[in-house]
Amino acid sequence: MAEAVANGHISGDGPFTRKCHAVLQQELGVQKVLLTTSCTHALEMSALLLDIEPGDEVIVPSFTFVSTVNAFVLRGARPIFVDIRPDTLNIDESQLERLITRRAKAIVVVHYAGVACEMDVIMDVAGRRTIPVVEDNAHALFGKYKGRYLGTFGCLATQSFHETKNLTCGEGGALLMNDAQFVDRAEILREKGTNRSRFFRGQVDKYTWVDIGSSYLPSDILAAFLYGQLEARAQIQRKRRRVWEYYSSHLRDWIADYDIRVPVVPAHCEQPYHMFYLLMPSLETRQALIAHLKRRGILSVFHYLPLHLSDVGRRFGGKPGDCPVTEDLSDRLLRLPFYNNLTESDQAHVVGAIREFLEKS
Ligand SMILES: Cc1ncc(COP(=O)(O)O)c(C=O)c1O
Repeated sequence: MAEAVANGHISGDGPFTRKCHAVLQQELGVQKVLLTTSCTHALEMSALLLDIEPGDEVIVPSFTFVSTVNAFVLRGARPIFVDIRPDTLNIDESQLERLITRRAKAIVVVHYAGVACEMDVIMDVAGRRTIPVVEDNAHALFGKYKGRYLGTFGCLATQSFHETKNLTCGEGGALLMNDAQFVDRAEILREKGTNRSRFFRGQVDKYTWVDIGSSYLPSDILAAFLYGQLEARAQIQRKRRRVWEYYSSHLRDWIADYDIRVPVVPAHCEQPYHMFYLLMPSLETRQALIAHLKRRGILSVFHYLPLHLSDVGRRFGGKPGDCPVTEDLSDRLLRLPFYNNLTESDQAHVVGAIREFLEKS
């Protein structure tokens, strides 16, 4: 970050932004990457690039962060909520055919906890109807499906570098483009609707207003922070793997006796160790365990209230029973503390507190 300041280029698209683009493009094998100010903004850019308009339908999981859907609703789209699979908690690909109408303009998938959606089926269904697929890859940077990086399947994919993610710059994101037709327009949308990027490359002698757009590019100071994280990616991923495997090996064998489940990672998926969760037997036991852990000084949290039952989701016609698996699992999911520098003794404390709770109940 000091180097970014010394470079005299702290606005967007400076040397560190270019370095981040290069690392992500090379490592993932993506045609073009553009850093953005957040994953939310990368999703908003996706909706603009796909020309989403009022009346269009967008196929989305109900079990996701609000931005996955909001970015498209902002353009006037109507969300069509899909339930999740009970094993991976990812969009249930077997329901897509039934829910896609002629108005469907995009399918947005989320690789929950970094574990891949069933991309073969999803790409096949989308391909037969020529509907673009966007991967919300916020959890899944460096995750793989059948040996191929997540974020390389859809025509567009989005990353988050929010502080809760494996790699971070506080607030940040990226748009991944796997189809060259989007690249020129994406640069314009990201630069306030101007062709400033072409101007900086010397391709035009002045820049002007050529399209709608906004300011979606992060400061090079943030890109410098992110570049440091990218340089340390192997080390960060090693630490996260250790944390994940500690929980898995110290919980897996005995919690099944209490009707509790840990994440399922199918053999054809490589996960980037983004989170570890428990699926408790009921809402009551989940809430009681959160309270018990809190008394022991341990923060555990639930995740994703079903979007189809939110205030906005209901305005789009969402009602109880629409996505039964989502409604059930959302009540029972509990995320355990997961930080790069969590020590084994921290984790032993967490596991011990869970054991204590179960033995008492
Ligand atoms: C699946 C998913 N998509 C999008 C986002 C939004 O990311 P950001 O905070 O970078 O906008 C999040 C944030 O946690 C998320 O979990």
